[in-house]
Amino acid sequence: MTRQFLIAGNWKMNCGPADAAELLENLKKQKQELADVVDVLVCPPFVSLSMSVNYLHETDIQVGAQNLHFEDEGAYTGEVSARMIAESGCNYVIVGHSERRQYFGETDEIVNRKARKALEHRLAPVICVGESLDQRKNEKHHSVVEEQVKAALNEVGHSEVLDAVIAYEPIWAIGTGETATPGQAQEMHAHIRTILAEMYTDEIAASLRILYGGSMKPHNAEELLSQDDVDGGLIGGASLKAESFTEIITIAENLS
Ligand code: 13P
Repeated sequence: MTRQFLIAGNWKMNCGPADAAELLENLKKQKQELADVVDVLVCPPFVSLSMSVNYLHETDIQVGAQNLHFEDEGAYTGEVSARMIAESGCNYVIVGHSERRQYFGETDEIVNRKARKALEHRLAPVICVGESLDQRKNEKHHSVVEEQVKAALNEVGHSEVLDAVIAYEPIWAIGTGETATPGQAQEMHAHIRTILAEMYTDEIAASLRILYGGSMKPHNAEELLSQDDVDGGLIGGASLKAESFTEIITIAENLS
């Protein structure tokens, strides 16, 4: 089964509308050179979503949000719903990033509610899972990730899950410059695929994309993306420069 790579940029709390315009302008210029065999996604902060959608209108670069609330509307000051994100023209949303779990108290249950709400509104949730350094040192990484995957997809049916994307992001590799080795990434991705096969079917597990995230850069992207079960990247720092993001897209294209 060949899965098309998805190269996704998580801009985190960077790039308001002015910086976003500059980054997207550069990205558009560089991306024009490329063939279209890789799916490309950018996830700007909320305030830059609409302009990014408009800006990328005639390209095939997709736009996603970084978070959502699990209710459709109401008295939730400061929150943004799946319906609003979809209305803004996005088709993806990141769910359960470790920074949200760590700094904003997102539990597995909240992640599940968000993932289900995204799917209800035809937004593809990019569901993030991953262990801490302590958990890996204590050999708990397999069970931690298994729990996170199972909890995030609780009550998500066979037909709905096909729209979901899983991102394995070991916390110790995020923003640290330290990357999982290709072997560590492959091993965990295969583990996740086995869990998905148990929850759903072999076919569904084989068709779902599992991205790697955590200090993916142009210099290590090729060996990570060459792994059988690595179907793309969720890229933080290196997605903030059009050059490095495009370099990673090109690497994925050459591997396609
Ligand atoms: P870095 O690529 O900066 O390590 O960030 C990874 C990440 O958290 C993407 O969601």
